[in-house]
Amino acid sequence: MRTIAHISDLHFGRIDPPVAKGLVEDLHRHASTLLVASGDFTQRARVGQYRAAVEYLAELPKPQLVVPGNHDVPLWNVARRFFFPLNRYREFISSDLFPQFRDDALLVLGVNTARSFTRTSGWLTADQLAYLREQTASVPPGIMKVLVTHHPFIAPPRKPDADVLVGAENALGQLEACGFDVLLAGHLHLAYHDDVRSHLSSARRSVLSIQAGTATSTRRRGEPNAYNWITLSPELVTVAVRAWNGRAFEESLVTRYERVEGNWQRVTQVPVDRMAVDAMQTPLQ
Ligand SMILES: [Fe+2]
Ligand SMILES: [Fe+2]
Repeated sequence: MRTIAHISDLHFGRIDPPVAKGLVEDLHRHASTLLVASGDFTQRARVGQYRAAVEYLAELPKPQLVVPGNHDVPLWNVARRFFFPLNRYREFISSDLFPQFRDDALLVLGVNTARSFTRTSGWLTADQLAYLREQTASVPPGIMKVLVTHHPFIAPPRKPDADVLVGAENALGQLEACGFDVLLAGHLHLAYHDDVRSHLSSARRSVLSIQAGTATSTRRRGEPNAYNWITLSPELVTVAVRAWNGRAFEESLVTRYERVEGNWQRVTQVPVDRMAVDAMQTPLQ
């Protein structure tokens, strides 16, 4: 079994300091195999925001696998936006835009989906899709394969028209042969997860798409700050959403997915905090 602490959308420049401090404490409570941060480290890609973000990441458990988000690309400086969109990200957060984590039970691949030509949307390029196919081609069976992007492949139940990865259905079709078991993303500041086949009609393989809420930003979208504590084994994935209760992070919803004949099936969902669950399931206006 492996464990991933999945945080997203820190948004330095708009963080809630007590929440950020609480997150450091909570992430050190249990040892994880890997910390994944799925983008939007800053609010406006400013140097001061990047400095604060990188200092913060240094306090969090390692190893870490990080990908950029749309907020990590400068918005107003047109030259920077179009000619050097991820220079600051590479300088401060990570120079690696194709991060990988491998051990004998887990392969995690991260790719950038943020683009200069759109303010909030994102997509995967043909080169990235080819890279992912190549990296997964000779992975022995029994190793869990996880893909990390900033933009999610599926929309949340609370907001079915939300901004997901452009061309998600086509990209997933092209990733079919990769055999990914789990997709991790953020971006919408909402915590939700499901089998992609419930959302994308052409999806043939059962893949779990898991999104984390915003871990530390004040730009909450009707949900508390939260992150995901995920345990993975070939036949069982558990997603525990750990949400901020005003004083600390605590378990608010735990969901177990079992793989039955190759298909992920939601077997139990334990609402530890009824109010948090209601908040997550109420449609947004
Ligand atoms: Fe965000
Ligand atoms: Fe985003």
